[in-house]
Amino acid sequence: MAGPPMRILGIETSCDETAAAVVEDGARVLSSVVASQEHLHAKYGGVVPEIACRAHVEAVVPTIDQAIQRAGLTLDALDAVAVTTCPGLIGALLIGVAAAKTLSWLLGVPLAAVNHIEAHLYAPALDAPLDYPLVGLIASGGHTMLLHATSPVDIAVVGTTTDDAAGEAFDKAASVLGLSYPGGPAIDRAARGGNPKAVAFPRTMLEPGSSDFSFSGIKTAVLYECYGRNARGRGNAPPPPEAVPDLAASFQEAVVDVLVEKSVRAALSRGVGTLVAGGGVACNSRLRARLAEEAAKVGLRVRFAPPALCTDNAAMVAGLGHHLLTAGREAPLDVTPTPYLPFSRSLRKGKV
Ligand code: KG4
Ligand code: ZN
Repeated sequence: MAGPPMRILGIETSCDETAAAVVEDGARVLSSVVASQEHLHAKYGGVVPEIACRAHVEAVVPTIDQAIQRAGLTLDALDAVAVTTCPGLIGALLIGVAAAKTLSWLLGVPLAAVNHIEAHLYAPALDAPLDYPLVGLIASGGHTMLLHATSPVDIAVVGTTTDDAAGEAFDKAASVLGLSYPGGPAIDRAARGGNPKAVAFPRTMLEPGSSDFSFSGIKTAVLYECYGRNARGRGNAPPPPEAVPDLAASFQEAVVDVLVEKSVRAALSRGVGTLVAGGGVACNSRLRARLAEEAAKVGLRVRFAPPALCTDNAAMVAGLGHHLLTAGREAPLDVTPTPYLPFSRSLRKGKV
């Protein structure tokens, strides 16, 4: 017989969103609050770590309060606390981790230490259960990875970016095109009126069969396309507005082609039935359409998190925390955050 519901408070402060959420039994989202700092970083065209940390310090307690209130609970109803401990900006991670440890100690409830990328992979399960094993594409502002999961907590890396993340390429290309920050949603919107075949931007596949990614070349290609080979990295006037939709659509199509081809190939070569896509770039309308189309052709189920759970949030952290704790993986109170990714690459034998 199932025990009483397990209500976990999730806390996420790895980058530029201060987020808290309460999730029951790893599946039902009782509340999910995200205090975005986007407006603070917009004028710099990227996340400024010092500004991010100061904003987390101000927002972390009110955000946790709101999450508990919106769940209709009080602090003493919480059964555990889960927090992102890696990867991310170290100063930003420390703030969420300090809050989580304090609550865990005060309430006398267990603590779960969550890997942010693994949490992105879990996010679609908050909509409906996931079938394992699966392959997941996690594409965000800081990471682009292909993962193989045999359960929510048994995950290995299949491929990763060798330079820029896909989201970073969207943000930089948008800045060259004179679009707003963050660039992903701006390019997605601008591309709707454009021709994806107008410019043949490079599709970097690396060596044949590789599951790794590279997006630095396309970023430079957008700059050269707009300003010629002597373009400076900064200080260029944006291209004329009428040229932007074709450039945005062509850039987006090239990035999506690479993400889709490598993801479908990795899923087929691992023999899984489900392909998951998460992280901020998985909000992209063209990526969602193309991945669904290509996966259907080869009989793969494709699962996306709802857009609000693709970008950074704490519901995915609380959800995965439930599985870590039920697997007996409670974190000690002296757990320390790390900016790096402690993933196993053991499954990465040869190419897929
Ligand atoms: O997962 P996320 O919220 O934060 C990180 O962990 O990085 O991802 C943010 C990234 C940004 O680079 C943003 O431009 C991108 O996701 N993004 C998109 C879209 N929405 C957000 N990229 C392409 N199309 C979108 N619709
Ligand atoms: Zn993220």
